[in-house]
Amino acid sequence: MSEVKLSDNERMKRESNFIRGTIEQDLQDPLTGGFNGDNYQLIRIHGMYQQDDRDIRNERTAQKLEPLHNVMLRARLPGGIITPKQWLVIDEFAEESTSYGSIRLTTRQTFQYHGVLKRDIKHMHQTLNSTGIDSIATAGDVNRNVLCTSNPVESELHQEAYEWAKKISEHLLPKTRAYLEIWLDGERLDTPDEEPILGPTYLPRKFKTAVVIPPQNDVDVHANDLSFVAIAEQGKLIGFNVLVGGGLAMTHGDTTTYPRKATDFGFIPLSHTLAFAEAVVTTQRDMGDRLNRKNAKTKYTLERVGVEVFKAEVEKRAGLKFAEVRPYEFTSRGDSFGWVAGIDGKHHLTLFIENGRILDYPGKLLKTGMREIAKIHQGDFRLTANQNLIVAGVAEADKAKIEQLARDYGLLEDTVSEQRKNSMACVSLPTCPLAMAESERVLPAYVTELEGLLAKHNIDDDTIIFRVTGCPNGCGRAMLAEVGLVGKAPGRYNLHLGGNREGTRIPRMYKENITDRDIMAELDALIGRWAKEREAKEGFGDFVIRAGVIAPVIDSARDFYAV
Ligand code: HEM
Ligand code: SF4
Repeated sequence: MSEVKLSDNERMKRESNFIRGTIEQDLQDPLTGGFNGDNYQLIRIHGMYQQDDRDIRNERTAQKLEPLHNVMLRARLPGGIITPKQWLVIDEFAEESTSYGSIRLTTRQTFQYHGVLKRDIKHMHQTLNSTGIDSIATAGDVNRNVLCTSNPVESELHQEAYEWAKKISEHLLPKTRAYLEIWLDGERLDTPDEEPILGPTYLPRKFKTAVVIPPQNDVDVHANDLSFVAIAEQGKLIGFNVLVGGGLAMTHGDTTTYPRKATDFGFIPLSHTLAFAEAVVTTQRDMGDRLNRKNAKTKYTLERVGVEVFKAEVEKRAGLKFAEVRPYEFTSRGDSFGWVAGIDGKHHLTLFIENGRILDYPGKLLKTGMREIAKIHQGDFRLTANQNLIVAGVAEADKAKIEQLARDYGLLEDTVSEQRKNSMACVSLPTCPLAMAESERVLPAYVTELEGLLAKHNIDDDTIIFRVTGCPNGCGRAMLAEVGLVGKAPGRYNLHLGGNREGTRIPRMYKENITDRDIMAELDALIGRWAKEREAKEGFGDFVIRAGVIAPVIDSARDFYAV
């Protein structure tokens, strides 16, 4: 028998004393701006990634300096709700203590700080804690920030679904006291830590959860390990259709990795929600692959042990039987911009934030604008899974004031095209250590080109879900786009086609490792054909499949690489 060897991350988690490692000692180490050894990875479960500015890395090496280490922090905000008071605290820290100064809204309904120096990290956690925010379990091998459809129009149903997102997030959190001790000077107890749900070595790999309210699929259920589809009767939530095993990451050149849609498990009544969530997590904890991290996510566990085996195990552990899937339909994934009236008489204003990056740009002071709105806003803010922001719960009397501020600071512009609103990119360069090609920084220009192509073929009444991701990890969710670009090398991408608007089909690779110029030329030709040959309301992704340009991905574990 060949030797079975756990991945090194397993050793690290086991030896970490419930994710403490020697993080505290590292904080005192003046010789480096970074974290040493295992701590470099352990800080992820505390919500931070060590990074450096890749634009200046070579220059610093030439000066014999270590890279300018800093951390990215990702907050935990189930359902993406922030109060104006919290916003002001978040804003002040971004302004004073981060090197990029920005508040980056992410596609997982939270915000990130980029460029926090080691000396400011503890202060950062204490500042956030003072306003009721933490960053526990927003990265690393744990259940991450739980998403929830942001649609305050149907506010009662939304409120109920949101409460569940929050409960699920809290139920699945690590129970270790490490975060409190290290960052918040919490009391040190003699009793040992326990992790009854996650276990002492946590999960085999990251784990993502979402709650979705059809017909919106803004949270992209198929990008999540665990999804809850809200099923309502007479406007009241009665339970969830549950799905398991979605995930988008892959590795270039490794065909044992692939994006995968989630599998329908069935319907559960509300009373089983937490038991079910816990059972999926513990089943993945015990059955997931701890030898090879590339095959450790829930999606691969399902394929390896078989869906029926996994499902039966969950039923046993949760003490439930899945009922038939209740019918539901997804119709869109985008946000609805501008004002909408809620059923509670309040108004909600959705603002388009390009790349989710809130920063003061020359002539466009988005961050200042948000600060001014936060100073007078009585409702709350909701971050969307499309990196946008909703000023929610505005009374009729305050509408005009809020709108004026949004317009004055460039947060509300009537000129943003539908195409731009349906485009998305991951962060990538300069901060992401894994980036192979540009993403966020090139998206605006790519979208301008795409707008030009749509106009050239007289089809600018329509849009294409277009997403760019700087490497195959897929943070920009390109593997659920109609046109998805996956970074391969500077200026080069794999071009994927054939996803659909609802986010229920994975796009297939059409051209490998081509330049952005070639991509635009390919799209020019294909959009031309779509304009001439499309059927009524036929999206671009459906068209390229019907026209035989690309074969659909139906069962990605078997047909993503070969048809
Ligand atoms: C092996 C897989 C992955 C790794 C190693 C990874 C790693 C990272 C890193 C290092 C960042 C920080 C970039 C920065 O802010 O500078 C990041 C951001 C992010 N990732 Fe991932 N990621 C992976 C897969 C995914 C997938 C599949 C999704 C979603 C479906 C996702 C969602 C996000 C989001 C929402 C952000 C925040 C920034 C943004 O909105 O682009 N990640 N990821
Ligand atoms: S997709 Fe890759 S490049 Fe983009 S943020 Fe994620 S890890 Fe970084």
